[in-house]
Amino acid sequence: MENLLSQARALLQGSATVTVFSGAGLSAESGLSTFRDKQADALWSRFDPAELASVQGFEKDPGHVIEWYNWRRKIHADAQPNAGHRALAQRDTFLHVTQNVDNLLEKAGVPAGNIHHLHGTITRDRCHNPSCCHEEAVELANPAPMRQCPLCGQLMRPAVVWFGENLPESTWIQSRELCRQTDCLLVVGTSATVYPAAGLIHLARQHGSKIIVVNNETTGASELADIELIGSAGNILPRLLDNVAICPQ
Ligand code: OAD
Repeated sequence: MENLLSQARALLQGSATVTVFSGAGLSAESGLSTFRDKQADALWSRFDPAELASVQGFEKDPGHVIEWYNWRRKIHADAQPNAGHRALAQRDTFLHVTQNVDNLLEKAGVPAGNIHHLHGTITRDRCHNPSCCHEEAVELANPAPMRQCPLCGQLMRPAVVWFGENLPESTWIQSRELCRQTDCLLVVGTSATVYPAAGLIHLARQHGSKIIVVNNETTGASELADIELIGSAGNILPRLLDNVAICPQ
């Protein structure tokens, strides 16, 4: 591992731009369940995504969906950044494309403007009416129950992307651009199974980016990696990034 870590550091040191592409594994050590790894408590092994993360599921039983997100929000309210988030936050030149709907990168000190939330955020609600799209911040510890949009009267819903929905357009365009231009893509804690997000790893590679993968198991991203560091993000990222001169700019 030490040898791989020093190769990865050398690769980062030779990169003028670094983009971090993260998934649920980055927040696992903060107590937030992942979706589909081998852990018994992975969300999609306990709950049905068709019921809870699709427009059809919401329209069939909105109260159930909102109750589930509010349960998750209360867990998120208490979650704190782990050593992986903190190590990333030390690097203020890194730009982030994350599939995570939590706010732990922000809590760790990464400026909000440096983070592209591809799958939206659990910290906000928006109107379900696509031609209204009124948004409101949500108090995670005390989220509002099911309610109507104050502007158009349709139901409010979490401002996250559900299966079958498009990614937020400008976030997607900017994320693609970052991945086309970056010198190094640091892929952390994702199964790389959900598209189009996972396609960003292929895109970066096609445009000449080096790929470093940090994950506690091999995934679809493994074969794209120049260097793969198998282990937990909270253990590997500080060892990779702390006290190392990276990125001259
Ligand atoms: P997944 O749950 O699919 O994958 C998480 C990955 O992180 C797995 O490969 C785990 O083995 C790994 N992992 C777990 N703990 C780790 C740790 N401490 N350190 C490093 N790696 C760890 O999560 P995502 O890839 O983020 O979509 O899932 C993508 C999307 O699927 C999510 O954004 C969500 C979900 O449905 C939406 O909410 C739209």
